[in-house]
Amino acid sequence: MKQNPTKLLLWLLMFLFDTVPFICEKSIRERAINLMQDTRLIDGHNDFVLRLRIFYQNRISKVNLREINKTHTNLLKLKAGYVGAQFWSVYVLCSAQNKDAVRLTLEQIDVVKRMCNSYEELEFVTTSQGISDSRKIACLIGIEGGHSIDSSLAALRMYYDLGVRYMTLTHSCNTPWSESSSKEIHNFYPNVTGLTAFGQEVVKEMNRLGMLIDLSHTSYSTAETALHISKAPVIFSHSSAFSVCNHSRNVPDDILQKLKKNKGIIMVTFNADALACGRKVVNVSTLADHFDHIKKIAGSESIGIGGDYDGVERFPEGLEDVSKYPSLIEELLRRGWNETELRGVLKENFLRVFREVENVRKISRAMDAGVIIGQRRHSHPSRCRRVVVCVFWVLFLF
Ligand SMILES: *[C@@H]1O[C@H](CO)[C@@H](O)[C@H](O)[C@H]1NC(C)=O
Ligand SMILES: *[C@@H]1O[C@H](CO)[C@@H](O)[C@H](O)[C@H]1NC(C)=O
Ligand SMILES: *[C@@H]1O[C@H](CO)[C@@H](O)[C@H](O)[C@H]1NC(C)=O
Ligand SMILES: *[C@@H]1O[C@H](CO)[C@@H](O)[C@H](O)[C@H]1NC(C)=O
Ligand SMILES: *[C@@H]1O[C@H](CO)[C@@H](O)[C@H](O)[C@H]1NC(C)=O
Ligand SMILES: [Zn+2]
Repeated sequence: MKQNPTKLLLWLLMFLFDTVPFICEKSIRERAINLMQDTRLIDGHNDFVLRLRIFYQNRISKVNLREINKTHTNLLKLKAGYVGAQFWSVYVLCSAQNKDAVRLTLEQIDVVKRMCNSYEELEFVTTSQGISDSRKIACLIGIEGGHSIDSSLAALRMYYDLGVRYMTLTHSCNTPWSESSSKEIHNFYPNVTGLTAFGQEVVKEMNRLGMLIDLSHTSYSTAETALHISKAPVIFSHSSAFSVCNHSRNVPDDILQKLKKNKGIIMVTFNADALACGRKVVNVSTLADHFDHIKKIAGSESIGIGGDYDGVERFPEGLEDVSKYPSLIEELLRRGWNETELRGVLKENFLRVFREVENVRKISRAMDAGVIIGQRRHSHPSRCRRVVVCVFWVLFLF
């Protein structure tokens, strides 16, 4: 049988046209996976342990954390998502401020430690070296909200001793010393703007201790002042770009430029509301738009990832739980991000920041030798008044 050579050529072309893009797609996915196998993710924010309190009152011996599926997070999914280190958020509600916030924070620290010590795939670490050396999923602790220290530098220091390595200066409530970006949720200390003198002491003490300063949830003025006075790079543990979506959690361009100068990082959040401002379709493209914008303003070396899984309800389509991180890396590869930039985003940028924070601790220790450390506790006006009233009664009675 005689074949028409033109027809044959056409068939061949059509075959190539159909399969080449398919082969490319596949190889981009593979490149993302290979990259992540090699450079596992350090994620800046996960609220799983809040779920452990809500669902199980922290009685974790009763649940299998490998397979638990009421949550976005479990150990099998973390492994599938190539997570190499996770900052577990020890978050307590703003309504605990000036009440039992310190006890609740201790209980959340306790549950992280019990979790990380009872599963062989987890390992509790407190240093940048500990993250680099770990072949397991390294566990770290971040406190979300300055109300957890109850205005006490001593409490802050003891949290450091328990292994806490970052503190978010506010959650959605002002503290007596720091202003939150959320205005309509709580009514604590409405007249506090930015960081008070005591708030600035907290920042300096965190520098001295080697605790990372987290500015997610803080007001513009708090972030600006902290960036101005911090001797070490800072982080935003779970925020995105305000220019792309003007959500109160997100960071405006001029602060991003200051962050670049500070050599800190913004760990981009996957929280659908913070990404999309109410738009209906939220997918990996929406998320990648934030990455592209932040790279344009501050460079890829100022970027990390802070998913905020189990902290909010809604995530982009295709990014529903902690096993889905590779889809983001795939999308960024498709948008032309190179492997060096992506290794930075996954891990190296955070490690650089953490090492510098540890370095500032080392330098401060050397300078501090023999100096008496402040015992100061921020005093509430109401307490002062109580003392005055008490003295009055003593004088009156005698
Ligand atoms: C979630 O876990 C429950 C209990 O282990 C199981 O019955 C259910 O099928 C699981 N659901 C999914 C989607 O895996
Ligand atoms: C806050 O400031 C306003 C206006 O200056 C004042 O009326 C109010 O009493 C202040 N509130 C507190 C709690 O200090
Ligand atoms: C965000 O933008 C919308 C629409 O332009 C505006 O109505 C809203 O007040 C803005 N919100 C903030 C926090 O700037
Ligand atoms: C995300 O949604 C937008 C709008 O519907 C769509 O144009 C885009 O192709 C989607 N991206 C992906 C990766 O599915
Ligand atoms: C990756 O991109 C950065 C710019 O963000 C550039 O400096 C670097 O040379 C690129 N690396 C490679 C291997 O192309
Ligand atoms: Zn948060």
